[in-house]
Amino acid sequence: MTDVLEAGTAPAAQGSTQGSTQDRPQERRRDAAATWWRQAVVYQVYPRSFADADGDGLGDLAGVTARVPHLARLGVDAVWLSPFYPSQLADGGYDVDDHRAVDPRLGTLEQFDEMVAALHGAGIKVVVDIVPNHSSDQHRWFREALAAAPGSPERDRYVFARGRGEHGELPPSDWTAVFGGPAWEHVGDGEWYLHMFAPEQPDWNWANREVREDFLRTLRFWADRGVDGFRVDVAHALAKDMSLPLPTAAELAADDLPDGAHRLTDRDEVHEIYREWRELFDSYDPPRTAVAEAWVPAHRRARYASPEGLGQAFNFDLLQADPDAATFRRVVEDNLRLARESGASSTWVLSNHDVVRHATRYALPAGTDLQAWLLGGGTDPAPDRERGLRLARAATAFVLALPGSAYLYQGEELGLPEVADLPADVLQDPTWVRSAGAEKGRDGCRVPLPWSASAPALGFSTGTPHLPQPAWFAGLAADVQEADPSSTLSFYREALAVRRRLRTEEELTWVDGTGDGVVAFTRPGGWTCVTNLGDGAVELPAGRVVLASGPLDGRALPPGTTAWLTDEDAQQDERQDAQGPTGR
Ligand code: GLC
Repeated sequence: MTDVLEAGTAPAAQGSTQGSTQDRPQERRRDAAATWWRQAVVYQVYPRSFADADGDGLGDLAGVTARVPHLARLGVDAVWLSPFYPSQLADGGYDVDDHRAVDPRLGTLEQFDEMVAALHGAGIKVVVDIVPNHSSDQHRWFREALAAAPGSPERDRYVFARGRGEHGELPPSDWTAVFGGPAWEHVGDGEWYLHMFAPEQPDWNWANREVREDFLRTLRFWADRGVDGFRVDVAHALAKDMSLPLPTAAELAADDLPDGAHRLTDRDEVHEIYREWRELFDSYDPPRTAVAEAWVPAHRRARYASPEGLGQAFNFDLLQADPDAATFRRVVEDNLRLARESGASSTWVLSNHDVVRHATRYALPAGTDLQAWLLGGGTDPAPDRERGLRLARAATAFVLALPGSAYLYQGEELGLPEVADLPADVLQDPTWVRSAGAEKGRDGCRVPLPWSASAPALGFSTGTPHLPQPAWFAGLAADVQEADPSSTLSFYREALAVRRRLRTEEELTWVDGTGDGVVAFTRPGGWTCVTNLGDGAVELPAGRVVLASGPLDGRALPPGTTAWLTDEDAQQDERQDAQGPTGR
């Protein structure tokens, strides 16, 4: 790994783009081919649980290739793949042994290329996950660091520190890891290494130039293989100030620290790293895109999302909000303002591989402690599944009508709820063990997808799925929903198709006076979205209904329902609509 500068040549530098905007990245960024991500629907594949082609019970890349028709029919613009790199799965693949390879259990680089070709052939872009805060403890450089002496260049690639006490037998500080337990691990010679997540995930030292060069090489490696963009894991945590004395956990948690002054996260110098990445992204034509997973206060998000930085950042505000009209409106207003400030487009996320699925969140009373609920097996309080799915579909239709990109998580197009009653002996999330059983973790949203109601393992695998699927998943299988025009799958397909047709400029105008608990807006081109999160039905405004997240009652929009209307041929179509409900 010393030849870090030899890596592949960017296509833009290969002469094929002569006379294009190759030397003018600012202009190139404005090309249509370069702005696809701004209002894209991006579908997250969690590869181990998506589709298993080789029957070992773990989803794989050939499984994704085999399911490209599903993704194409769904109508997504891009797929984001969670890590598929070699990994001991201490954290579901976010413990990466080698960033420039495919986990042999998930396939080969040739199968990766085949998958990309199949997705591109279907007009779907490919985004891969980059995990730059930590490697796995099996990474070659970490093995070398352990074998080397304190103070060596090998150790400098990670965050090692001498322990306290005469022989360094006490951790350098009292910091705790995100998954629970201490954030330091002793290596036996008086030094400890930092892991903000599991002990199997040692943090990189981003002050080390070799680490930076190695990640540039990784980005080039995938960009050269045709990857269109990157999702950047824990993007806010790379830069750290490890100067002595180290603060205590209580000092770290103090909320009066000035912006950018936290020792471990969201430091200003993290943006120097992304400026360098941006230069690399812009050396491609079209430029590669990136989206930051940065858990930072909203006003700090813009720098991650700026065109000089990663270009886009996740906003998890809706994912954390109760389904309440005033809250939804406020979140959207705030985020559209932030997007304008950064020059990015906004991102909308209701579910991903780290959180309880939104069909289940909305099935529970507001304020339910989700981890406590999971610990109890998901029975207390009893989820109102029907309400959960109704609201989930309404929220999805709301999100899909907004300017910006929508990130969908595999299985939400089937309306999957969380599997809340996984037994302790099958749990894989390190959170479960590291929290000593106080938190069950994230496995309930990572259960392999049900494709076919009557096939073994519901069509996911010919073997035994790595997490057990509940029997009731059969009723939600894709092939069951395929035939049902009122199914959640049919609704998602229709919503994505209509969205593609109506997609216009990145603006919206709020519509007031539509009723209690209702949030409504119009988009340029005469498109209105009305979401009823209140308790009673409300009258729809004028316009032809082009999508409804649930049954309508004539011109009445029932609670927990979203409708999209256009003003095309409004009067004629209103008459038609008045003749009966659309059913979906
Ligand atoms: C991100 C990932 C999560 C992972 C963590 C550590 O938050 O989304 O799944 O556990 O980073 O890599």
